[in-house]
Amino acid sequence: MKITVVGTGYVGLVTGTCFAETGNEVTCVDIDVNKVNKLSNGQVTIYEPGLEKLFERNLKEGRLHFTTNLAEGIKDAQVIFLALPTPPGADGAADLSFVLKVAEQLGKIMTDYKVIVDKSTVPVGTADKVRAAIAQNCKTEFDVVSNPEFLREGVAVDDFMKPDRVVIGTGSERARKVMGELYAPYVRQGNPILYMDEKSAELTKYAANSFLATKISFMNEIAILCEKLGADVDMVRRGIGSDDRIGKRFLFPGIGYGGSCFPKDVQALVKSSADAAYDFKILNAVMDVNEKQKLFLLPKIKSYFKDGLKGKHFALWGLAFKPNTDDIREAPALYIIDALVAEGATVSVFDPEAMAPVRQVVGDKVTYAEHQYTCLDNADALIIATEWSVFRTPDFDKIAHTLKNKAIFDGRNLFEVERMQELGFHYESVGRTASKL
Ligand code: UDX
Repeated sequence: MKITVVGTGYVGLVTGTCFAETGNEVTCVDIDVNKVNKLSNGQVTIYEPGLEKLFERNLKEGRLHFTTNLAEGIKDAQVIFLALPTPPGADGAADLSFVLKVAEQLGKIMTDYKVIVDKSTVPVGTADKVRAAIAQNCKTEFDVVSNPEFLREGVAVDDFMKPDRVVIGTGSERARKVMGELYAPYVRQGNPILYMDEKSAELTKYAANSFLATKISFMNEIAILCEKLGADVDMVRRGIGSDDRIGKRFLFPGIGYGGSCFPKDVQALVKSSADAAYDFKILNAVMDVNEKQKLFLLPKIKSYFKDGLKGKHFALWGLAFKPNTDDIREAPALYIIDALVAEGATVSVFDPEAMAPVRQVVGDKVTYAEHQYTCLDNADALIIATEWSVFRTPDFDKIAHTLKNKAIFDGRNLFEVERMQELGFHYESVGRTASKL
């Protein structure tokens, strides 16, 4: 099938590459000349494990093309995916101006039937707006479909190639057939394609992310309660997770969710609810809990350093909002840095992938260590903000010898409390008994 993807950001590039992988001919359109040049020359512009190999293969075999020319790019396409940014506007609602502008242009240049697909996460009712924007000047038949993505950063290629489900929102039989054919190779294992109306598809995306965010905030509150009551959140997590109705996944407490999706999507759903004259109470609480959770470790650090944090130096391991990505959007680490610096402390940071993006945002507010162990030099304590695998079995001897105090504040529960006790560390984590020295 011939496909066009408009927007070569994270979602667009993964979508385009993965569609090419099953033999479709894919043209990706972007207004950024620099990006299009890089991509055409084989340079992948985002960090996503596994993408590069697929990208190179499909580019070489001539199934992936890049252009800045929208009219050229969509000429032969049967399906056009819109994977454009929808940043939160001042009022928390998604800003649709990029999507609607392209829709309007499409209306002017389309000459035969095409299926236009909303891939970006967009508020309920957007498909209607896109349809209206196209229709203004359009002389041909077309259909608009809502097909939200459920890609997790770090495993996006796998999520695309073997999705738990594909959601297709459309009232048109013709569009349904085209989309079903396109996705058939991806659901061979038997996972469902769920056909529904456009609004339900649009809401499904927000509901999924908001539900997962709720699960996390719920566990973060249970963790707080565990500490107050002397219970162990790891036990409680296992105890409830083995009930199929609850499920084992997404029950890990920590220092809050971040990234480009959860914070934005929860906020947008609260806004959509308010616009529909409904106060979505649970989600307001979810956001509130998450904001506080990002600084969960701070009171623990402060109570350890009784003489205050002024003049103290901290090593911070992990900057990305989660492992296997260089994405630092809404990353708890950034909030921790700000809080420590505001208290008069200095911070040395290390992350396997996210040093460059942090340097751009934070500049010389912190120092950047070459290695996870040099990061510990002269530090009064170690703080862990992201659960990268390389932090899971560190050289504890080295840590003990380099740090001024044998103190670790772990926001991701990487180590067993008993082991840390045996090793003689002051070790504090989330929702478990502390090993206090
Ligand atoms: C998420 C959704 O999973 C994906 O389906 C959607 O399309 C985009 O948003 P992503 O933002 O890449 O994907 O991250 P994800 O792996 O879902 O993690 C989100 C956040 O939740 C991270 O900050 C992570 O640290 C946190 N988290 C996750 C927890 O704190 N505890 C958990 O048990 C799981």
